[in-house]
Amino acid sequence: MLFTKEDFGDDFIWGVSTAAYQIEGAHDTDGKGPSIWDTFTQQRKKIANGHNGNISCDFYNRYQEDLILLKELNIPNYRFSISWSRILPQGIGFVNPLGISYYNRKIDLCLELGIQPWITLYHWDLPQILQQKGGWINRDVIQWFSYFTEVCVKHFGDRVKHWIILNEPMVFTGAGYFLGVHAPGKKGLTNFLAAAHHAALCQAEGGRIVKSLLNDCKVGSTFSYSHIEPFSQKDNDINASKKVDALLNRLFLEPLLGMGYPTKELKILERIERFMLNGDEANLIFNMDFIGLQNYTREVVKYSFFTPFVKARIIKADKRKVEKTLMNWEVYPPSIFYALKRINEYPGVKEIIVTENGAAFIDKIEEGEVMDGKRLNFLKDHIAQVLAAKNDGVKVKGYFVWTLLDNFEWAEGFHPRFGLVHVDFETQKRTIKASGKWYKNFLKA
Ligand code: FCB
Repeated sequence: MLFTKEDFGDDFIWGVSTAAYQIEGAHDTDGKGPSIWDTFTQQRKKIANGHNGNISCDFYNRYQEDLILLKELNIPNYRFSISWSRILPQGIGFVNPLGISYYNRKIDLCLELGIQPWITLYHWDLPQILQQKGGWINRDVIQWFSYFTEVCVKHFGDRVKHWIILNEPMVFTGAGYFLGVHAPGKKGLTNFLAAAHHAALCQAEGGRIVKSLLNDCKVGSTFSYSHIEPFSQKDNDINASKKVDALLNRLFLEPLLGMGYPTKELKILERIERFMLNGDEANLIFNMDFIGLQNYTREVVKYSFFTPFVKARIIKADKRKVEKTLMNWEVYPPSIFYALKRINEYPGVKEIIVTENGAAFIDKIEEGEVMDGKRLNFLKDHIAQVLAAKNDGVKVKGYFVWTLLDNFEWAEGFHPRFGLVHVDFETQKRTIKASGKWYKNFLKA
């Protein structure tokens, strides 16, 4: 399908997304306190090749050049997260003026360049000192997060009009507190359910705080969401796929919309009740201005007797012999269409913005160029699906590519490259990839 930017209308929002820990580096500069990712990456065998984000893209020191690059790419909206422990090295209390000044300079330069800044409050880097008190498992996280939110709104709210509360609560609670493969490396159902409930309360509370302090702003939160299909039409595979859908796609969205946790499809979630206090049911609800959809692939699910709690397992792309990215995620553009359609069906959803979509492939610099045709096609095919959904009546109002620069991809280290811009991590040289040039051209005024 051929399309142009005009097909989306003048008010469609185009952008690119990043996260503090993945690009900033400067892990102990200017009074920053350690985060759970600083600690986790120090532990043996947690991250592929022993990588860490201590330096990463050195964006902390190079933000000026990188924002100018963003401008050069004609990208009008820039989503980034605030490193909590840069602003609050003790997690709460003392506000680090150097941390505030860094984000102030960054926001001011965006605005000078005509780029709209979009803040994500929490993209997974909890201050380590709060983890020592239990982190997301401790209900006090609601107070800690509220304080952090207030500080950010107070300092940046005069200029930043778009606020995102959490980045993918399912991923940071699932990978960080159930599977133990992300920071802080905790495992087990009880840890997970406590962390999940507190994150669900924080996503709503954060929304309330931002809206109560700022009159003129839009607030949303982001959700990982993949179209899910059963491996076969057998009843047990269909049931398994419904359970995984409840867990991966619905667990955080539905309580926000006033529907409670999806316990009907996934009984085990009833155990969240243990962590519920009076008033929580109402406090889980908040009417966001927009829902951020983050979509990368589809999942195919099979019944599995041996998998505890869900009795289901995901059949990865390599086992299905389908086209895949370096993350072993299937390339399946209609997934974003189905996800948009489905989120759009919830009565409480006002607007949807695709806050992340992108792909990692092997990139090579040849004669100063990176011809990343696979990524380019991935983006084109997904954007075409977004247009199809929009034309079908879905209230989708924007699209952000993940991501600007190749960066630290969490447990996978630096190997999977997702950037529109290639980064040589030895020299910090930036090279715009063919996909970046395509996006630039597409966005040309
Ligand atoms: C998402 C994360 C983002 C990045 C992409 C590839 O789940 O939000 O930080 O790692 O995946």
